Amino acid sequence: MKASFWHKCWEKNSLGFHQEEVHTFLSQYLAPLLTSTDKHVFVPLCGKSLDMFWLAEHMAVSGSELSDIACRDFFTDAAIDYQSQSDQKLGADSQFQQYSFGNITLWQGDFFKLKAEQLSQAHKVPIDWIYDRAALIALPIEMQQEYITHLTSFIEPSTTLFLISVEFPSEEMSGPPFPITEKDIRRLFLAADKHCQIDCIASRELKDKRFGQRTFDVSHLVERLYIITKN
Ligand SMILES: C[S@@+](CC[C@H](N)C(=O)[O-])C[C@H]1O[C@@H](n2cnc3c(N)ncnc32)[C@H](O)[C@@H]1O
Repeated sequence: MKASFWHKCWEKNSLGFHQEEVHTFLSQYLAPLLTSTDKHVFVPLCGKSLDMFWLAEHMAVSGSELSDIACRDFFTDAAIDYQSQSDQKLGADSQFQQYSFGNITLWQGDFFKLKAEQLSQAHKVPIDWIYDRAALIALPIEMQQEYITHLTSFIEPSTTLFLISVEFPSEEMSGPPFPITEKDIRRLFLAADKHCQIDCIASRELKDKRFGQRTFDVSHLVERLYIITKN
């Protein structure tokens, strides 16, 4: 997907992927895994996901998002008076704009140009968690390996990736989202880093075929949750 595709989605408010509620996997599966030492979560391709407000109750949140509309709407939809600044620490040629309030900072710009050190330095703590919901599956097959390779550069031995994907017969609907199987996940991560440990810890059939604000015309739609670490 080209950047222009996503910018148009935001300009037209065509946001079928956006969920009006916090994802149930957060309270169900992430909450029991959190510890008092967890301080920082990174949310790649974050959109204006409400999940970030849930995450911010537990840790500092760094989001990565291409669209300035998404970053502004995330705060203004919640009537939050955010601050906006270019990332001064990187100098005048910074390719990012930061939108922030409290312990949430959204880095507006291209995820593929963002570096883990920028986030760790900004919050003065390393990244404990990465939360991917509808980020990997937003990208077509030809971009998935590049995404995973860059994503693994944010995973330290102390970082855990909480990744939610969907599966459906690819011939029944064109993406985004693009279906990803467990086999795909293993192939992509192990190609990026052979030390990745991948566990699928939950699966659920979405009986009403709802994904965000859309209902999909597919024969089955399964959501899976993966926990991924580096050994
Ligand atoms: C399918 S949406 C998912 C948003 C969010 N994760 C959610 O669950 O609502 C994908 C998002 O990725 C953003 N995006 C696409 N390419 C990007 C890139 N290269 N860097 C940062 N954000 C990007 C889009 O603007 C869009 O908001």
